Amino acid sequence: MLSGKHILLIIGGGIAAYKSLDLIRRLRERGARVTPVLTRSGEEFVAPLSVSALTGVKVFRDLFDLGDEAEMGHIQLSRAADLLVVAPATADLMAKMAQGTANDLASTLLLATDTPVLLAPAMNVRMWTHPATQRNIATLRSDGIGMIGPNDGDMACGEYGPGRMAEPLEIVAAIEARLGDGPLKGKRVVVTSGPTHEPIDPVRYIANRSSGAQGTAIARALAALGAEVVFVTGPAEVPAPEGVQVVSVQTAQEMLKAVEAALPADAGVFAAAVADWRVEGASGRKLKKSKDGLPTLSFAENPDILKTISQRSTDRPPLVVGFAAETDDVLANATSKRLRKGCDWIVANDVSPSTGIMGGSENAVTLITDAGAEEWPRMGKDAVAQQLAQRIAAELA
Ligand code: CTP
Repeated sequence: MLSGKHILLIIGGGIAAYKSLDLIRRLRERGARVTPVLTRSGEEFVAPLSVSALTGVKVFRDLFDLGDEAEMGHIQLSRAADLLVVAPATADLMAKMAQGTANDLASTLLLATDTPVLLAPAMNVRMWTHPATQRNIATLRSDGIGMIGPNDGDMACGEYGPGRMAEPLEIVAAIEARLGDGPLKGKRVVVTSGPTHEPIDPVRYIANRSSGAQGTAIARALAALGAEVVFVTGPAEVPAPEGVQVVSVQTAQEMLKAVEAALPADAGVFAAAVADWRVEGASGRKLKKSKDGLPTLSFAENPDILKTISQRSTDRPPLVVGFAAETDDVLANATSKRLRKGCDWIVANDVSPSTGIMGGSENAVTLITDAGAEEWPRMGKDAVAQQLAQRIAAELA
């Protein structure tokens, strides 16, 4: 619920602006007060009248509207809310924010505010992946700006890829996580999840078995306690949780890059089943059956993401949590793995086929910390996730 909360919603100019009308409705249903600001280009996509009808208040549009300055100066407007939400956040608006430009009402409010800001970016896939946009995003992240999305998908311009604005309910969940008073409020956590797929050729790959269920449950539990979660996932079977920033990757190398791009963070939870090897010189063309015999694959070692992050000299998250899926000598193997990788905690579990844990809904884990090993009773993966999230919250408090 968001009753009593005040949100300043800046609607940028993009086709996704139509979704901001639904966002207003969802926020008001939950009891939030929404003050709308429409940029010049935003007005090309949604009518000011629709926005004011849905919010029940006037729409702020122009920096030099003296009437508004008399009623409420732009400085005050930028600070009266509990959260500033920009949806859609266009490439242009984000570039202005990263530069500190203030040449219209929206950019001036964003520069003048001392209130947390959440962006829901939306743009063409090429604009999103452009190094200039990625540089701006890195700057905004290090300035403490929150982001939800963008998601992968079909885009209005006919292309496919990252750039679609997060759905209104995902944005609402991110707002609730931020404005709720959970113990992880203000903390940023990176979670890896799912398997990685290492290509052999365009149609074949090697992978570990992983549904992504445990990592997804952990990301959801952390977000429910108020954390800003960056969820870096390989191709998992279960859908990604709502209210987190989802970064989809295929390979271990991509996963490491995405995790590094998400730093700095207060904690990292590495639940992914990363393939330890990739096929060296994967073929760009489909390998064909041949009379000359079977193909020979040679392997190269993948980066160990947990170890790389645990042993970083800069931006190492203060709490790094790894997993150890073992079939024999669980405790001894996991204890030495914690030291070898340099992480703070290891969540160890026995994945022998007889336990039914792999692919199942339950887990039985032992948490290994500096203080020793703590055996948790067998419980659902959601319960394991909630207990772990509580422990992380206590540690970061
Ligand atoms: N991990 C990782 N990057 C890798 C391999 C593993 O980040 N390339 C992380 C996993 O996400 C997990 C932890 O390391 O948190 C342990 O993974 P596991 O597969 O159990 O360990 P390995 O390093 O593969 O060790 P071993 O093969 O000796 O069991």
